[in-house]
Amino acid sequence: MTARRILAAVLLAALGLLAPALATAQGAPNLAKFQVEDRKSGYFYMGTQTRALQDDEFLNPGMFAIDQGKAIWNKIDGPKGQSCAACHGNAEQTMKGVAAKYPRFDERKGGVINLELVINRERTERMGAAPLEYESDALLALTTYITYQSRGLTREPVIAGPAAPFFERGKEFFFTRRGQLDLSCAQCHDDRAGGKLRGDTISQGQINGFPFYRLIWRSMGSTHRMFQWCNTSMRAEPFAMGSEEYLNLELYVAWRGRGLLIETPAVRK
Ligand code: HEC
Ligand code: HEC
Repeated sequence: MTARRILAAVLLAALGLLAPALATAQGAPNLAKFQVEDRKSGYFYMGTQTRALQDDEFLNPGMFAIDQGKAIWNKIDGPKGQSCAACHGNAEQTMKGVAAKYPRFDERKGGVINLELVINRERTERMGAAPLEYESDALLALTTYITYQSRGLTREPVIAGPAAPFFERGKEFFFTRRGQLDLSCAQCHDDRAGGKLRGDTISQGQINGFPFYRLIWRSMGSTHRMFQWCNTSMRAEPFAMGSEEYLNLELYVAWRGRGLLIETPAVRK
């Protein structure tokens, strides 16, 4: 544990006292930054304390993942003695804007690929290293670190051409009612955004902050973990992380939030 981490942990523990003071000190956030036309970031729906956590890079618990991701970026792994850094150099320069291009249609795969899967492809094919398990701390950290280099940029996913049928499947998923509650994603995140569900404010279900730090999980989470969580809360069978279903859905949801600024690592309740 670095001194910075210990200090941050102490500060986090004192959050209940600190956050309101911080929020006041910083003034009300400019919400215009978190909205484009009728599309709103989840930040919009968070309370003052959660927003204050996200806004302060020192308090934001997702910043640990950046440190960890940077270490993995530089770490040699696999029989070829390679690291991400060995080929790509300084991620702060070479990965700028890269995460904003994902998810996208990938010709080799003949389907949608996201950043997590690209990272694992790089590991296996270029380094001869084992793929990182979906939702492992290591894959989340590397994904967060790379996406952080696109903070403030926007996603404008290509949905025409070969991407079109996959986009359509993702869209259909979003509007399909499923599970014991017979609910679709749209019924909560289009129709009830701003409303309450068991004390939580329902957001538009945007993914511009992912990977994010979720306070109730006390950990980082990927878009696919969130999709699973929502599917489960609809009392529907979740799909596997990295599955075609969720990759297509991710493409639709990314397009649905086009133009929103990438906030990674966002903090959500
Ligand atoms: C029963 C209502 C409900 C349904 C149906 C539902 N969700 Fe959610 N979803 C929530 C709640 C509650 C949260 C946590 C608060 C928030 O951010 O909206 C959430 C959060 C999210 C988030 C995180 C938003 C952020 O800003 O970090 C995403 C993404 C998401 N949902 C996507 C989906 C998708 C995709 C589906 C369909 C598979 C779906 N949800 C179905 C209730 C629902
Ligand atoms: C042996 C050299 C090599 C290694 C090691 C390597 N890469 Fe790559 N990577 C490349 C080349 C070459 C490309 C394709 C050209 C480009 O986009 O830079 C690429 C492409 C990528 C892309 C897609 C870029 C885009 O614009 O879509 C990502 C993301 C990426 N690498 C991440 C990583 C990560 C993360 C690691 C470590 C796990 C890694 N790479 C390891 C050489 C390497």
